[in-house]
Amino acid sequence: MRCAAPLWERPGLRAVAGDTLRPGGFALTDRAAEAMGVLPGWRVLDVGCGLGATVARLRARYGAKAYGVEPSAAQVERGAIRSGVIRAGGDCLPFGDGTFSAVFCECVLSLLPDPRAGLREFHRVLLPGGFLALSDLCARDDGGSRGDSCADRAVPLESTRAMVEKSGFETVLVEDHTRLLTDLAARLAFAGETGGRTGRGGLGYYLMIARKRGWTHA
Ligand SMILES: C[S@@+](CC[C@H](N)C(=O)[O-])C[C@H]1O[C@@H](n2cnc3c(N)ncnc32)[C@H](O)[C@@H]1O
Repeated sequence: MRCAAPLWERPGLRAVAGDTLRPGGFALTDRAAEAMGVLPGWRVLDVGCGLGATVARLRARYGAKAYGVEPSAAQVERGAIRSGVIRAGGDCLPFGDGTFSAVFCECVLSLLPDPRAGLREFHRVLLPGGFLALSDLCARDDGGSRGDSCADRAVPLESTRAMVEKSGFETVLVEDHTRLLTDLAARLAFAGETGGRTGRGGLGYYLMIARKRGWTHA
């Protein structure tokens, strides 16, 4: 039996969400970029960049030298931009220590096989004081299966916050944006697309911004 493609690979999500394959589109990208004060010339990395929409946004709107990593050949192939987008996973970044002023990771952290290893990599490639912007699903409890979808793999926000802080970051902003998840789920349902396989209740959506404390890893 053929497994269904993950939601972010399906044309139904793109039809509803456009090139930003996440709740809220650019709303949280801009919220984070403005809160961080991204400046022209900053080197910024988008981990799990999908179709490269955020990479393009960071270049066009903020003048950043933006790069993306994305493990899926299909996503890179479908995306609008190729320059500066490298095929790689978030837990093994092909960049040297202290390369970036900011790392974005939008709707991807929960998909990493080992989110702690991903956070160690984000910490490594950031300059001291560099910013991490995370947006993702969260869950009321830790009872999620380790399936393939963001909904399957979501964990409580406080678990993510503790993991981020143990990885050498200081949290500077945490916001609840569950309304954006509800809105996307409703638009997907209206278009006849299922938003996930589990029907797991108690899901939310958050934006977290953290700063790299120093060079030592927890
Ligand atoms: C929900 S989509 C979000 C894409 C993009 N960040 C956006 O918001 O438009 C999740 C993305 O994470 C990517 N992904 C899955 N596993 C990954 C991993 N181990 N490292 C980095 N990205 C991964 C998928 O290929 C997919 O492009």
